[in-house]
Amino acid sequence: MAQINPSILSADFSRLAEEAKAVDGADWLHVDVMDNHFVPNLTLGVPVVEALGKATSTPLDCHLMIEQPDRWAPQYVEAGAGSVTFHAEAAAAPVRLAREIRAKGARASMALKPATPVEPYEDLLPELDMLLIMTVEPGFGGQAFLDIMLPKIRRARQLIARHGLELWLQVDGGVSADTVERCADAGADVFVAGSAVYGADDPAAAVRMLRHQADE
Ligand code: DX5
Ligand code: ZN
Repeated sequence: MAQINPSILSADFSRLAEEAKAVDGADWLHVDVMDNHFVPNLTLGVPVVEALGKATSTPLDCHLMIEQPDRWAPQYVEAGAGSVTFHAEAAAAPVRLAREIRAKGARASMALKPATPVEPYEDLLPELDMLLIMTVEPGFGGQAFLDIMLPKIRRARQLIARHGLELWLQVDGGVSADTVERCADAGADVFVAGSAVYGADDPAAAVRMLRHQADE
């Protein structure tokens, strides 16, 4: 079954604990960490992740859009993240980092910006629990879905199948009722949705609707 991960970036930051609870029933809560260097935006860090982890029983899926993830990612595991995603473009030693995240007890995930091809990373896939294909340029919620990423999602799914791997294939950016089915058809099985969930009158119902559409 498809997994839906609401992105807290589109929530009301003055009520983070309530906003986290508003999506009870979601598979994971997606937490976007930005440092104003890797992306031109600044969001939140380790103390907020720690507080969020105490506020909700939904596991945290931390997406690190930061430089020096080799230095920071382990701290997000210690802060309570169940899954930590670093960017391939920023990691100095992705294999070592993935192994460290796993050794500390979290799922290790690697993200690719739109212009980063998946093929050079084929041999690294067994080191990962999830691969994230960005479907917008990372940095902001509410951007339009990039259709041109669908072939990359398809190629990533083929590589995963060719190696007989279990890893999850996540998409992030512009995922909505209009685009979720195309992502699912291309082979994605984990869907991040910010504005499509928190922009809805009933965020929990939006999660159920997206999951239903992805599974169709
Ligand atoms: C963007 C973030 C996304 C963002 C998605 O850089 O990584 O997780 O919150 O928001 P929507 O679903 O509104 O595109
Ligand atoms: Zn994200």
